[in-house]
Amino acid sequence: MLTNESLPCVRTALPGPKAKAIIERRAKAVPDAIRCAYPCVIARGAGAVFEDVDGNVFLDWVGGVGVLNVGYSRPELVEAVREQAGNYFHAMANIVTHEGYIALAEKLNALVPVKEKPARTMFTNCGAETLENAVKIARGATGRPNIIVFSGAFHGRTLLTGAMTAKKAYYHGMGPMPDGVYRAEFPYLYRAPAGLTESAAIAYYIDRLKAVFEEATPPEDTAAIVVEPVQGEGGFIPAPRGWVEEVRRICDAHGILLVADEVQTGFGRSGRLFVSDYWKEWGCAPDIIAMAKSIAGGIPLGAVTAGESIYKRVPAGTIGGTFGGNALACASALAVLAVMEKERLPERAAAIAAQCLAAFSAWRKEFPAIGDVRGIGCMMGIEFVNADKSPAPAKVAAIVNAAVQKGLVIESAGTWGNVVRFLCPLVATDAQVARGLEILREAIGEVCQ
Ligand SMILES: Cc1ncc(COP(=O)(O)O)c(C=O)c1O
Repeated sequence: MLTNESLPCVRTALPGPKAKAIIERRAKAVPDAIRCAYPCVIARGAGAVFEDVDGNVFLDWVGGVGVLNVGYSRPELVEAVREQAGNYFHAMANIVTHEGYIALAEKLNALVPVKEKPARTMFTNCGAETLENAVKIARGATGRPNIIVFSGAFHGRTLLTGAMTAKKAYYHGMGPMPDGVYRAEFPYLYRAPAGLTESAAIAYYIDRLKAVFEEATPPEDTAAIVVEPVQGEGGFIPAPRGWVEEVRRICDAHGILLVADEVQTGFGRSGRLFVSDYWKEWGCAPDIIAMAKSIAGGIPLGAVTAGESIYKRVPAGTIGGTFGGNALACASALAVLAVMEKERLPERAAAIAAQCLAAFSAWRKEFPAIGDVRGIGCMMGIEFVNADKSPAPAKVAAIVNAAVQKGLVIESAGTWGNVVRFLCPLVATDAQVARGLEILREAIGEVCQ
């Protein structure tokens, strides 16, 4: 029987017969444009593992791409959602107030480290909708039209968030994209111009940002600078402290709002509830924080938290939506926060990160194909390169495939797809983490020897 402690165990060729039949039905029923290369069809999940329809057990180091920080099927969440479902599924916030919406907003207003307190929170249904709203709020509050985003950024698949996203493959042939979005270079220190020290590289990237004011959108036309504190899809690249400090100074000097997209980084993954908690300690708290993914442990929900004075400048009736802050999702999110607090999951993230970082750093010495190991807390990436430091996406694709065949589900990331990303649920046991590391080491060894 599958339990929170189960270890991965693959009993059939993958996909197994039942999974194969469902994947064949998927191919006929679902557009190919929703890509899935994995041979996995889930039957049930527990903690950091899931069992497929053929009885194979997988250790999941993707976790719905950062949705399952509290793991699969937490009894506390199941109970909270069941109880809420017995009372009512839904009450639209614009028509009927439900207490879960208010209780969750109160909790987030206290916990989310935005610069201005008291804060307020509105709810959405997913990451992209959250970013759309964060931009609307910033434009509404400043009366300015433009935003600045970064190379390597991923903010979603809607049209505005598509324009904010750097990788054109996500909206190939679907333009024109919305206007008012300008791009600066993200401080990707591993690929900074050769020969620069870290501080010189940071100064270089700050100059590249200032150039956008000259070349594209002057500060007085710029409502917000939107940053992922650790770039996710872009390759698990943390924004370095010196750069964040300078960006905060630039925003303050020009009345530009600093928006942190914590959709993937949030809810305990970084070793703190948010990466912005570190930013706050550095004196750089963002003005607006956008959240989704792990907020409700798998039920669709997103949130935008900002200072009261920002929200007061947003015209009435301009934000909201039918399902945003749905009652089942809010009940689940309140349970997520209770679990995080009770089990100190941010601290657990730091412990898992230490276990993995020791292994990843040793592998870096062993395998010349590993060019960089980086991240914050449990959001870590391993960048694979060729001898000339050019990206090696084929190696990563082969590693991902070999790992899945052995029962470890991992995913690539990065502009070139040459980064193995680590997004394991924070409830993984030490034994599961150790077994996952063994499998990943084997897969890397097979591909990179
Ligand atoms: C940083 C970031 N922002 C926004 C999004 C979009 O979230 P969603 O897929 O829920 O729309 C993602 C999704 O991966 C993300 O990683």
